[in-house]
Amino acid sequence: MKRLDVFLKEQKKPELSIIIGEFVKSGKEIYKQLQNIGINGYYSESDEKNASGDSPKKIDIYAHDLLVENLKSTSLVSIIGSEESKELIKCGDFISNKVYDVYFDPLDGSSNLECSGGTGTIFGIFPSSSLSCGDEEEREYKFPKGRDIVCSGYLYYSSSLILTITFGNGTFVFTFDGEHFVENIKSPLVFTDKCQRIYSVNEGSKDKWNDILREQIEVFKKENYTLRYIGSMVADVHRTLLYGGVFIHPTKKLRLLYECIPISFLVENCEGVSYSDATKVLDLTPESLHQKVPIVLGCKRDVYYFS
Ligand code: AHG
Ligand code: MN
Ligand code: MN
Repeated sequence: MKRLDVFLKEQKKPELSIIIGEFVKSGKEIYKQLQNIGINGYYSESDEKNASGDSPKKIDIYAHDLLVENLKSTSLVSIIGSEESKELIKCGDFISNKVYDVYFDPLDGSSNLECSGGTGTIFGIFPSSSLSCGDEEEREYKFPKGRDIVCSGYLYYSSSLILTITFGNGTFVFTFDGEHFVENIKSPLVFTDKCQRIYSVNEGSKDKWNDILREQIEVFKKENYTLRYIGSMVADVHRTLLYGGVFIHPTKKLRLLYECIPISFLVENCEGVSYSDATKVLDLTPESLHQKVPIVLGCKRDVYYFS
């Protein structure tokens, strides 16, 4: 099976490969801490509040700090945006004129930590449109359009350490075998018409749903769909990409820039679709770092904007 290093060489994007290498290096460290979470107490809350008003856990901050340090060390990243940073982080001292803006959720699904549920790191990478540090005229930073994304993926921390990634030419899955990340047998992932009938939504928020969603969920129930909901976006999305079906988060909780856009790039590269209300997520341009949007994603058969 193909190793990640061979796959990355084939992409012929050396700067991006170096950045992915830092996500992989950081992911291995985060995974190690997660495996000791019952001992190191990293699931306890830090005494800060993040920009979304959540109280991050110690491991959210650990993952954020590690990723910022490792990404800065590449000298190929101009802007960093993270769920755990109130503002954009500006970097400098580039070693190439090809630099990138990187947005990430350092740890997604933190509410699952104490019960050892699946969690992940979500990332999206864009060609840099910003000024490097030290530029005199500080232009207002323009967030990139969703479609400007050039690479996205997630590290999934569960029974295995998984990397799911796309450069826009298919979505590929790699599993860490203790030494290397090797391509998963189901790679590249493509939704087929045989994909399983699964819907994934938090039914507890039913009173906040609009009529379209309410009616569509009733249709799924009549057609004997299975409900699966883990409450960690990376875990629910990973199952959806491998098994099929639809994942829905209808209330404005998920963040457009570092959750919805990167995941939607993966979904579209599996020949799936991803909408926020009646607009494709990748056709959106974030107005702020922590902007929240509703999302419906999955195989075309089940995303109700298609029905
Ligand atoms: P995070 O842990 O990064 O804050 O993300 C949590 C998100 C996402 O992982 C998941 O899909 C969603 O919260 C679950 O929300 P509900 O509790 O509303 O179901
Ligand atoms: Mn998240
Ligand atoms: Mn998070």
